[in-house]
This record gives sequence, C-alpha cells and structure tokens, in this order.
Amino acid sequence: LTLYVPRDAAALAVGADEVADALRAEAGRRGIPLRLIRNGSRGLFWLEPLVEVATPAGRKAYGPVAPEDVPRLFDDGLAEGRGGLGPTEDIPFLKRQTRLTFARCGVVDPLSLNDYAGAGGWQGLRRALALSPAAIVDEVTKSGLRGRGGAGFPTGIKWKTVLEAKAPQKYIVANADEGDSGTFADRMLMEGDPFLLIEGMAIAGLAVGATRGYIYTRSEYPHAVAVTRAAIEIARDAGILGGDVMGSGRGFDLEVRVGAGAYVCGEETALLESIEGKRGQVRAKPPLPAHEGLFGRPTVINNVLSLTSVPFILAKGAAAYADIGFGRSRGTMPIQLAGNIRFGGLFEAGFGITLGELVDDIGGGTASGRPVKAVQVGGPLGAYFPPALFDTPFDYEAFTKAGGLIGHGGIVVFDETARMADQARFAMAFCALESCGKCTPCRIGSTRGVETVDRILAGIEVTKNVALLEDLCETMKFGSLCALGGFTPYPVLSALHHFPDDFAGRPRAAA
Ligand code: NAI
Ligand code: SF4
Repeated sequence: LTLYVPRDAAALAVGADEVADALRAEAGRRGIPLRLIRNGSRGLFWLEPLVEVATPAGRKAYGPVAPEDVPRLFDDGLAEGRGGLGPTEDIPFLKRQTRLTFARCGVVDPLSLNDYAGAGGWQGLRRALALSPAAIVDEVTKSGLRGRGGAGFPTGIKWKTVLEAKAPQKYIVANADEGDSGTFADRMLMEGDPFLLIEGMAIAGLAVGATRGYIYTRSEYPHAVAVTRAAIEIARDAGILGGDVMGSGRGFDLEVRVGAGAYVCGEETALLESIEGKRGQVRAKPPLPAHEGLFGRPTVINNVLSLTSVPFILAKGAAAYADIGFGRSRGTMPIQLAGNIRFGGLFEAGFGITLGELVDDIGGGTASGRPVKAVQVGGPLGAYFPPALFDTPFDYEAFTKAGGLIGHGGIVVFDETARMADQARFAMAFCALESCGKCTPCRIGSTRGVETVDRILAGIEVTKNVALLEDLCETMKFGSLCALGGFTPYPVLSALHHFPDDFAGRPRAAA
C-alpha cells in the first residue's frame, strides 16, 4: 500500500503528522505493508490533511482526514482506493488548472531525485548546458516571462543586462522573502518541489555567467528552509550543483540565507543588504542590481516563481509558454486564494482569467457564506476591488488600468462585515511598522496617515481630512524611494474611492 500525506506547513498546521502516525499504526494493526510518502501540498487547503492512495487507476484522494477517521477509512476500502473523493486529478479545483510551475508540487516526494527526474526534471538544465548563454537568454525573452515578484519586468531583459555586464563574479539571488499577506506560493514550491528552484537558478547561472547563488527566505518558513537545504545537499552529492554541473565542467553552487522578518527585506536592494550582513535598508536605484548588486557585482535577482518558470521554458521551448496567456502577460500565474474564501489554495492558471471567476466560481465565494464585499489583490499594498470590478482579467496591464496591481498573485477575500476604513488604517499602520526609515514620505507619512484616518473615523472635519489623506497618498506614491511607501496609497485610496460610506465617521470597531 502506497499512501501520500503532505509535509507542507499548511498540512502540518492542521495535523498531517498525526494523520501519518495514525495511518502507520492502522496499517500495522491490519498487517498491511505500507509505503508512506510525505509529499508537498496539492494546494487544496480546505481538504488538508489530504491523504492519497496509489491505485492502478491513479491516485485517489481523501480529505480532510483526522486521525480518528483512519480506522473507518480502512474499513471502507481506503487500501483499494474506495470511498473518499475519487481520483485526485478529477477534483474540479485541480482539473481546471494549467499547472506548469506547480506540475510536480504535491505529486512527488520533494527530496527524491528519482521522482524529480522521472517527472521531467533537469530537462531544462540539460538543454541549457547545450546552448550558449545568449541563446538561453533569448529563449527566456521569447517566452514573454515577466517578474512574478510583482513588478512584471521582463525576465529576459534583466538577464541580458547581467549577461552583458563585465565582472569577475556575478550572482543569482532568489527572492523567497514572501511577505505579502495571503501569499504562500514560494513556500509551497520550496517545500514541495525544491529541485525546481535549484534547476531554475542553475539555468540562470549558465545564462549570465554566474557561479554562485543565494536563496533568501524568511525565518517564518522553517520547513521550506529545511527542505531546500536538504535538496541542495542532495543535488550537490549528485553532481548537479558544485564545480562540475552535470559533468559539463561548469560550476554553480547555492546556499540558503534566512532573514529576520522585516517586510522590506523583500525589496530587492534591502534583501541584498541583508545577505551582505547589513541592516535591511533600501538602496537608491540606479545602480540597478543587474549592474551593481550583491557585493557590488552584477546580480540577477528574481522571485522564486520567475526562476521556477524557467525549467519548463527551456525544456518545452519558449513558444509552449508564450502560447498561454493574455495580452502582454504570457504564461501562467500561480494565484493564491486566501482570506474569507470557501475553497482557498493554490490555483495556477493562464493569465486572462477574471477576478470574478477566481473568487466566485473557483473559490466558491466566502467561507462565512456572506456576500463578498471586497478582495485585496497583490498583498498588503494591493488595491481593494469591489465585486463591480470582478470582470477585470488577471493581467498586469488590466490591473494597472483598474488602479491596482497583481503583485505576487495573492487574493484576500473580505465579506460584508469588513469596514474598509479599518483596512485603510491598517495599510498606513502596516507601512509605519515596516518602514525602513530611509525616506520621509514613508517614515513620517504613514504615521500621519494613521492619525488622519482616525480623525475621519472620529467624525472630525471629515471632508477636509479626506482631502488631506488623498494629498498625503499622492506624496507617498510619488515621493517614496521604494514600493513599501509608494504602494501603500493603493489600499488606502481604493478603500476610500470604492467604499466611501465606510469612512462616514463612525467609531472604529475594537480590533
Ligand atoms: P521595479 O519596477 O523598480 O523593478 C522591477 C525589477 O526590474 C527589479 O528587479 C529591477 O532591478 C529590474 N529592472 C528595472 N529596469 C531594469 C533594466 N533596465 N535592466 C535590468 N533590470 C531592470 O520594481 P521593484 O520596486 O523592485 O518591485 C516592486 C514590486 O514588488 C511591486 O510591483 C510589488 O507588487 C512587488 N512586491 C512584492 C512583494 C512580495 O512579497 N513578493 C512584497 C511587496 C511588493
Ligand atoms: Fe524605506 Fe519606506 Fe522609503 Fe521604502 S519607501 S525606502 S521602506 S522609508
């Protein structure tokens, strides 16, 4: 009997280890030899812990499973794949996805080289080893891949800048400092398919002539850190990393660095400062990291999702990736559905899917059953969208036009009990707390912003203070050095403009 129980943090948080123990014990009691594989998560979070059983007709799913359910599941034919939810791949939430980046996540044993290679792993790296650096960059450019951290800058152009820079040492940095509220895609990938990130970074190294890489992640992600570090060791022992990548005579090696929890360390230059052992404070650009990045050397710094899109592009060709998408947003986006949502989790889809399809159709509306009031897209600095804008397609340009951003693909749902003025206040308070302090609009503006929202909520000179808040947002948007101060106005202004009644000067809820 072969069973799969995720080791992903989201599954562990709801008792996956206890379920694994119960399955082992019950199989033992019944004398059934058991092979229990701890895979990553499929990203169907409302079904975690999701147990799967391997059958001749494919994997069958059961979930959410509690330890006390286990004897009954065996009685009902779990070992033969009877009962439960049926074939995992037929669950509509999974079936409707286009999984390129997450193709293996939740399927394979994350630390099995055999599983990785057997499911198409290393094909992209092998092809890259046969290409010239310029040809690799060209392939990535043609795929249309844009930075998945949020800014959507074309990855191929970034790589070309680093390739053309002359320096004795270059670096590849994976930004895994996934700080946005409601996001978890980087974490899921590192826990569920860490070799994919290693492969993507090795390809980037070959493309630009970098021999060293760093994965910078958060101390809040201990499981991702442990799995990724173990995967690096395994890849090094197998001759995939190190001085002789796959017997090519070329070198590339990697290490994981763990940050101390500042949101601003997800900003690329603050992240580089932090790796260098300094305080995580934003650097003025230019120079761009592509010219003078880590330790002053040309550096490719990409989000985990950008780097993990690359193996598919190299293995299947740029056109296979570019064929999917919408407008100038090519390929797929791993979208993270969170907050007050019935079916929360990871949904990878081609660009172009609308916000309404994602929230109402795929996400099933709110978990509370109340009407959706707003969704925040793109993290704590993303705009709030009312249902009236649910026909907005998931696309960088369409979101900019609608006054928002897709950011790192996080969607957080709120029902009608949320008061958006409180959310606007939260955005300012968050900025005040996380500001690195380097520039005035963000450092001082955010604190003044909290006070101004408080005055509005207390009913003090509401019209004057609303105008002041808008003016302050203008200053922060155009006067801040980085996206933390510069994007805080998005949630504030979208809350103000789409939900003006919520700013009508009633006392604030105790929260
Ligand atoms: P940016 O627009 O300054 O730069 C985007 C990227 O392109 C950077 O890596 C930059 O170095 C690079 N770049 C720009 N011009 C280049 C050129 N000519 N050659 C080579 N490289 C070039 O954006 P920034 O400030 O780095 O990021 C802002 C974004 O971060 C926002 O869109 C926001 O959504 C996102 N964000 C993501 C978070 C997360 O948790 N993933 C958290 C907070 C914000
Ligand atoms: Fe630092 Fe805020 Fe200025 Fe960014 S906007 S550099 S976080 S003070």
